[in-house]
Amino acid sequence: MFDLSNKVAVVTGASRGIGKSIAKAYARTNAHVVCVSRTEKALTAVVEEIKKENGSASVSACDVSDPETFNNLIKDTGVTHGSVDILINNAGITRDRLIMRMSEDDWNTVIDTNLKGAFNGIKAVTRIMMKQRFGRIINISSIVGLVGNAGQANYASAKAGLIGLTKATAKELASRNITVNCIAPGYIATDMTNQMDDQTKDSLISQIPLGHIGSPDDIAATALFLASDEAGYITGQTITVDGGMVMI
Ligand SMILES: NC(=O)c1ccc[n+]([C@@H]2O[C@H](COP(=O)([O-])OP(=O)(O)OC[C@H]3O[C@@H](n4cnc5c(N)ncnc54)[C@H](OP(=O)(O)O)[C@@H]3O)[C@@H](O)[C@H]2O)c1
Repeated sequence: MFDLSNKVAVVTGASRGIGKSIAKAYARTNAHVVCVSRTEKALTAVVEEIKKENGSASVSACDVSDPETFNNLIKDTGVTHGSVDILINNAGITRDRLIMRMSEDDWNTVIDTNLKGAFNGIKAVTRIMMKQRFGRIINISSIVGLVGNAGQANYASAKAGLIGLTKATAKELASRNITVNCIAPGYIATDMTNQMDDQTKDSLISQIPLGHIGSPDDIAATALFLASDEAGYITGQTITVDGGMVMI
């Protein structure tokens, strides 16, 4: 149903987990996907998988918290591929600790990657998308940004900040036909959640009305819809994809 032919998409955090699923979903619907993370080797493996399925993708290693590198990556993408139509700010990390024990470094590193990384990306694509009079920006937040979570003050602040960043930029960029939306995933099976002990996993699953943990493809399906022409009248929204865990 959805078709991203002739679109160029930059997906951060594409080396594994949710970002990898989004990259593959976009490539299957005919976008060229620029796969971004800090690890070139892992990105190359993802791009090889995409090419095996006859998709189009390239590797751009970058730390999203570094504004200059991220800006250069976006500029180079525009020059090489002729446009930057879709930006997925998905790169994210956790450094969980109770607030009393949270170091300034734990705080800064999480904010710099999860929130400032998205700011860097949006700032870099804005000029290009404004000229094109087309753009789709999707920020990957979390239900933790909506309801909080003990031990994740840094992460919850970054994820709540992304929702504010989404709303402000959606209002600024709407007149140029650029939509900005957020996805708030719940509990999704990736490396980020695999480290939890079985007791914590069982307790989380018991709070999910649909009764099971989500998959990265569940998030990719929503990211595909939001990037499509069909979602052209949606902006400034946060779509929760969490099996019903949080209903506001
Ligand atoms: N899994 C969940 O249950 C869940 C729930 C809610 C929200 N989310 C959010 O969804 C997003 C993806 O999570 P995930 O579960 O797929 O995590 P993941 O498997 O740990 O993957 C994180 C990705 O981000 C990249 N990354 C981390 N720091 C980066 C940086 N400074 N610059 C560039 N890339 C960086 C990683 O690649 P490198 O290490 O190669 O750089 C990797 O590709 C995150 O924003 C996360 O907060 C996840």
